[in-house]
Amino acid sequence: MIIGSDKCLAVLSLIALAGCTTIAGTATDSAPSAITQSAGVAHPEIWPAYEYPVPEQADDEARITRLIARMTLEEKIGQLVQADLCCVTPQDVRDYNLGSILVGGNSGPNGNDLSPAPDWLKAADDFYTASVDRSDGGVGIPLVWGTDAVHGHSNIIGATIFPHNIGLGAMRDVALIEQIGQVTAKEIRVTGQEWTFAPTVAVPQDFRWGRAYEGYSSDPDLVASYVGAMVRGLQGAPTNDNLLAGPYVIASTKHFLADGGTDKGVDQGDSSISEEALRDIHGKPYGPAIAEGVSTVMVSFSSWQGKKMTGNKSLVTGVLKERMDFGGFVVSDWNAHGQVAGCTNESCPQALMAGVDMYMAPDTWKPIYEDLLARAKAGTVPMTRIDEAVARILRVKARLGLFEAGKPSSRAYSGQYELLGSPEHRAVAREAVRKSLVLLKNEGVLPLAPGGRLLVAGDGADDIARQSGGWTITWQGTGIDNSHFPGATSIWAGLDQAVTAAGGSAELSPDGSFTARPDAAVVVFGETPYAEFQGDRAALTLDPQLTGPYETMRRLKAQGIPVVALMITGRPLYANPALNAADAFVVAWLPGSEGGGIADVLVGKADGSAHIDFSGKLPAAWPRTADMADGALFPLGYGLTYASPRTAWTALPELDASALGGDSRLWFSGGVPAARWSLLVNGESEVDEVRITTVPAEILDGRVRVSAENYLVQEGARRFAIAGGTATVSLRNFEALDVSKETNGDVLLLATIKVWDAPASAAIGAIGPNSRGFANLPLAENGEWVRYGIPLKCLRNGGADMAQLTQPFVLTTSGRADYAIGEVRLGSDAEVVVPCS
Ligand code: BGC
Ligand code: BGC
Repeated sequence: MIIGSDKCLAVLSLIALAGCTTIAGTATDSAPSAITQSAGVAHPEIWPAYEYPVPEQADDEARITRLIARMTLEEKIGQLVQADLCCVTPQDVRDYNLGSILVGGNSGPNGNDLSPAPDWLKAADDFYTASVDRSDGGVGIPLVWGTDAVHGHSNIIGATIFPHNIGLGAMRDVALIEQIGQVTAKEIRVTGQEWTFAPTVAVPQDFRWGRAYEGYSSDPDLVASYVGAMVRGLQGAPTNDNLLAGPYVIASTKHFLADGGTDKGVDQGDSSISEEALRDIHGKPYGPAIAEGVSTVMVSFSSWQGKKMTGNKSLVTGVLKERMDFGGFVVSDWNAHGQVAGCTNESCPQALMAGVDMYMAPDTWKPIYEDLLARAKAGTVPMTRIDEAVARILRVKARLGLFEAGKPSSRAYSGQYELLGSPEHRAVAREAVRKSLVLLKNEGVLPLAPGGRLLVAGDGADDIARQSGGWTITWQGTGIDNSHFPGATSIWAGLDQAVTAAGGSAELSPDGSFTARPDAAVVVFGETPYAEFQGDRAALTLDPQLTGPYETMRRLKAQGIPVVALMITGRPLYANPALNAADAFVVAWLPGSEGGGIADVLVGKADGSAHIDFSGKLPAAWPRTADMADGALFPLGYGLTYASPRTAWTALPELDASALGGDSRLWFSGGVPAARWSLLVNGESEVDEVRITTVPAEILDGRVRVSAENYLVQEGARRFAIAGGTATVSLRNFEALDVSKETNGDVLLLATIKVWDAPASAAIGAIGPNSRGFANLPLAENGEWVRYGIPLKCLRNGGADMAQLTQPFVLTTSGRADYAIGEVRLGSDAEVVVPCS
């Protein structure tokens, strides 16, 4: 409910009304300005005001007052700190009275990302028990455990995996959103957690952003229409004051603010938009979230007008807590405090002073705790602010019912593993899949006749990890296969079941070859999984190695076989070759574990009619070209149904994909460095450096021979035969590279290497103008390609300035050696993780 001066807002950009204020330098350039503007400083009075609807409970308030009076300073600081499972033990929680733990995308109980569900509940009990231990005379406040259940309880093997938010945006069904929230909450409760870092209420404006699929839509109104329902599904009604007694958890709307509004869609980047755009686009969803009493808000990594959100008091305190009356607590994002001006990962009082109540300090919780404690003792952070933050956290814990709930395993739904991926829950997900499909073209091939012979092609057809995308079991959604999805249905399996049940037959053939001529073919293609960092692209197009199915479509079509293109994607992308080649084009987004929902809509009845019609509409405009320069091919809201009148297809222009910008994380592939990069070899000193442009080459007085080697494609690698001594192979970028963000995010430097003759020793590293960091690389003769990964962190710890690297990849060997490099890039999917030395 808006109780603020909405009349003022409506006219704000036109004139400055008496009693209303305006901002200089915006649309009202000629109007007199009542407020002076300085970059990154918001004006709360121009934002809508809300009323936090969660009723104050007198007994809770009395308890909070009592507790705060009794707590030691150490206990108070502990409440403000959240540690990741990677780096904290129950004993730490006992010793430091930590208020919360989280499980990041790469973490899991017992150091295992793939831990089975019962281990999660056991870990929840262990941490809970440690938190309430009062043997030292302390108050023993139960901790709260947060997890990224962003499309179902998505870290858990066997859980129901819903379509990612972009697909839910296509279905435009608020009631189903609430049901999805309910199912997700119930599944979380099975394994003992109480808090999900969801929903993401980003309003992505540039789909080059690799997290765009975590947002429902580019349309603020559509996002806003969903948020309340999702929060209600997760938490129950705002009046619900004992969440743990029912099937509920606390929610977190994230990432405040404009995570989806960064310039060029750069993850964790800067949004240079006006305050009005910030409010009207990215601020929109926070109204309904607050109106539903959302318990927590996570602050964005990104910045606005050059100022990091995590340190922006005018927005976090002024707008969110005061103007919008948000009554829960504010949590920061993964070491995001370290990016605030003047802060490090180990020290950042600025975040607390800006309004952050809880620090997500995954591996830095101890220094953050000690730093805050020392500052509190010295009186440089005020006790009033600390007490206020503690009170907010305790109020949410009280509303959860955490003080009375007992051990996680003793609570309702705990350990009821049959609820994970139960038939009822999967049915909800399958309905969401059906409703999220968007039909962009149909020349009459759909619905598929059930009795015939169907060919299902494309390498994504029988791959549940691929159809689920990032934030599924693992952080990037990589390194897993169908065996990690018990009870789930791939797109292929769903089609096969539907066609076979109707008396037809189906054949799975990734490359599109067939044994018997099919009546029709479905070619599944599109993106492979990614999450933050890994998903950013320079252009709205598929990576070149993913475009092979276009040829499959053309080939089938040339043989007179009707083709349906089915695209798995986290975002609208230029796909004109498929739109031209196929007779029908369906966007499946990232549907998750219930691939059967696709067959429900695609496979029709014997009489040629459909069982279920398409109802999904585009949640964002679909591009005509890879840079959107020519505007939308299909506007937001577009989507055909079986009843849509047939129109003639006009061939779309097809672009040269190689001209589309490429992938900035790929530094060496196909035997050559990326554009603006050089491949260098040198000996003892950098003076004898040689730039390799042609092969074969004999260099360093014949000591090193460089030749071509096959990898993925012919001559796709470079081989270095070294007769002896020290030899260094490196990649130099034209401009110094800043990978500090990736370093913070646990990204690895990946090098795919084949070794014929192992050197006496090898080191991998990175070099900048004034720094260098190296780690040992245990290269052994392997006879095959191995993707080694060195955590960027190790190079930083070794001394490299990750904000300024001129040679971000360096491989030095000593002694006789013979090896080849196939690929160098950033990523998380190493086959061998090299330990930090
Ligand atoms: C992401 C958040 C996530 C958190 C915990 C961060 O890097 O930005 O969305 O909730 O990690 O995994
Ligand atoms: C964690 C994620 C987190 C990311 C932050 C990863 O190591 O697993 O949860 O979002 O780092 O950058």
